[in-house]
Amino acid sequence: MNNVAVIGSGTMGNGIAHSFAQNKFKVSLIDISDESLRNAIITITKNLDRQVSKGMITLEDKEMTLKNITCFTDLEKGVKNVDLVVEAASENLAIKLKIFQDLDRFTMPETILASNTSSISITKIASVTQKPDKVIGMHFMNPVPVMKLVEVIRGYATSDEITNTIMDLSKTLGKIPVEVNDYPGFVANRILMPMINEAIYTLYEGVAGVEEIDTVMKLGMAHPMGPLQLADFIGLDVCLSILQVLNEGFGNPKYAACPLLVNMVNAGNKGVKSGEGFYNYTHGTKDLVVAEKFR
Ligand SMILES: NC(=O)c1ccc[n+]([C@@H]2O[C@H](COP(=O)([O-])OP(=O)(O)OC[C@H]3O[C@@H](n4cnc5c(N)ncnc54)[C@H](O)[C@@H]3O)[C@@H](O)[C@H]2O)c1
Repeated sequence: MNNVAVIGSGTMGNGIAHSFAQNKFKVSLIDISDESLRNAIITITKNLDRQVSKGMITLEDKEMTLKNITCFTDLEKGVKNVDLVVEAASENLAIKLKIFQDLDRFTMPETILASNTSSISITKIASVTQKPDKVIGMHFMNPVPVMKLVEVIRGYATSDEITNTIMDLSKTLGKIPVEVNDYPGFVANRILMPMINEAIYTLYEGVAGVEEIDTVMKLGMAHPMGPLQLADFIGLDVCLSILQVLNEGFGNPKYAACPLLVNMVNAGNKGVKSGEGFYNYTHGTKDLVVAEKFR
């Protein structure tokens, strides 16, 4: 396997492209937005510079990684002759179904189609293709170049052969894959999102403030980051989408999103990517707690 296409060049897509390119894969990075592609290359370059300054890679590695990435806004051109597609477009069912219908037409029969979705059913995504045995979840964690885990999700029809190929490929990227079955939220988000939602409820009900909640979880549970700060990093819109999938998928109101989270997303406060979530990031640091005003 040499040629990989990554669809979506946002938070996750740029990290996935970086990781493949650094491991000598030729990467087509595809987005509908030119601006997002430009920002992705800027982010990848910055992250490579950090790796060089820490002595983790050489300048030659940085140049080779950047050379391995080609940007496209045309899906058909971008996925031509690739062995693997990793879709990392917005967490929206309609968007993903349309992309996979198009991939079914534009890719070679043997091309493996993976999705980095946080919660949408791999089985459902696979059902709009003619090759559901070759559709699989490849759930990277943010920030991709740093985080070791890949949650490998077997859809109902995913074959053993494709699962083994993706498990091995994840190891080639220096990651540690874990195989799980396709149920809402898989393992990672089924456990993480109710914790984040409960932290937001704890704030909403006035039990404690943002920094107090995060400090309890950092110092008391040895979490490297509090749940509210983590939600800001994941994106509050992404957290809301995942909770909606869990709520609908299990038909259980225990997954219903806290009204404060819904209000913040409606107000455009999506966390780090919009400059403000539970904390304010506009000065380049996490410096101001703002969420109380949405109560
Ligand atoms: N943010 C996280 O921490 C995280 C972690 C693991 C998985 N994920 C999943 O990764 C995926 C991407 O999330 P993100 O946080 O990078 O989102 P993001 O909003 O940062 O980026 C999404 C990108 O997809 C592009 N896009 C939208 N429709 C497209 C289309 N039809 N074709 C090509 N590009 C398109 C957008 O222009 C944007 O650049 C989602 O499925 C999300 O659930 C996110």
